Amino acid sequence: MKLRVGVIGCGPIGRLHARIYSGLPIAELVGVCDIVPDRARACAEPHGVPWFADAREMIAKVSPRVVSVATGGHEYGSDHYEPTIQALDAGCHVLCEKPICNDVSKAAEMVARAREKKLCLAVDLNHRFTPAARQARRWLDEGRLGSLLFANMALWIGKPKDEESPWFHMKALNPTPWTCCATSAGTSPTCNASPSRRRAEACGQPRRSISGLQAAWWAT
Ligand SMILES: NC(=O)c1ccc[n+]([C@@H]2O[C@H](COP(=O)([O-])OP(=O)(O)OC[C@H]3O[C@@H](n4cnc5c(N)ncnc54)[C@H](O)[C@@H]3O)[C@@H](O)[C@H]2O)c1
Repeated sequence: MKLRVGVIGCGPIGRLHARIYSGLPIAELVGVCDIVPDRARACAEPHGVPWFADAREMIAKVSPRVVSVATGGHEYGSDHYEPTIQALDAGCHVLCEKPICNDVSKAAEMVARAREKKLCLAVDLNHRFTPAARQARRWLDEGRLGSLLFANMALWIGKPKDEESPWFHMKALNPTPWTCCATSAGTSPTCNASPSRRRAEACGQPRRSISGLQAAWWAT
């Protein structure tokens, strides 16, 4: 039996979730929702599924077992709380986009609600599964690296024009590469986030460099 899936939030990432679910043999996209009706409609039409402007209505009408919460908001994290709680209260498992929330107490509430309801709440730190992160993990497992003391990260993602700065690094983007490093290392080393490869190279000397993720390890 296919897993019934709904998508809340139909920006670029919600549309991507919808497209991926539509192509998965184990999933059935049953509806999409956005508070901006035109976005919901544009996301739904290519997949031939119903669209909604209210998350609770979508969940009540199409009964998804799992929902993706792909809303954004301030720093891409302020709009995750409400639809996540609504979905959990309605008995849905949730895949929430990162960052989980801008407010730690609300994030804790989201986790507590999932536990209370015995439902899964996953945060989409998909870069943990990238070849770069897996390679770093392999090197650690093989003992090729010592304890991770310092990480130089580089992100090649466009910056909003009004935030142009050589040191700019969007908070919402931090969790992804940083969690890769910390997860791979199983420790909490010093971190230096850097917006470009050139700058990363200028301020460190990565002993090992992996495409998309640069980190420096010093054997101990
Ligand atoms: N995992 C990754 O690699 C990755 C990459 C990029 C972005 N993201 C995350 O994906 C999320 C979405 O990014 P985006 O660029 O598509 O954002 P976006 O702002 O373009 O789209 C979000 C949509 O959610 C809708 N929305 C807000 N509140 C809603 C609610 N209560 N119910 C229904 N719809 C609601 C908005 O109207 C908007 O259309 C962000 O949290 C971002 O951090 C993750």
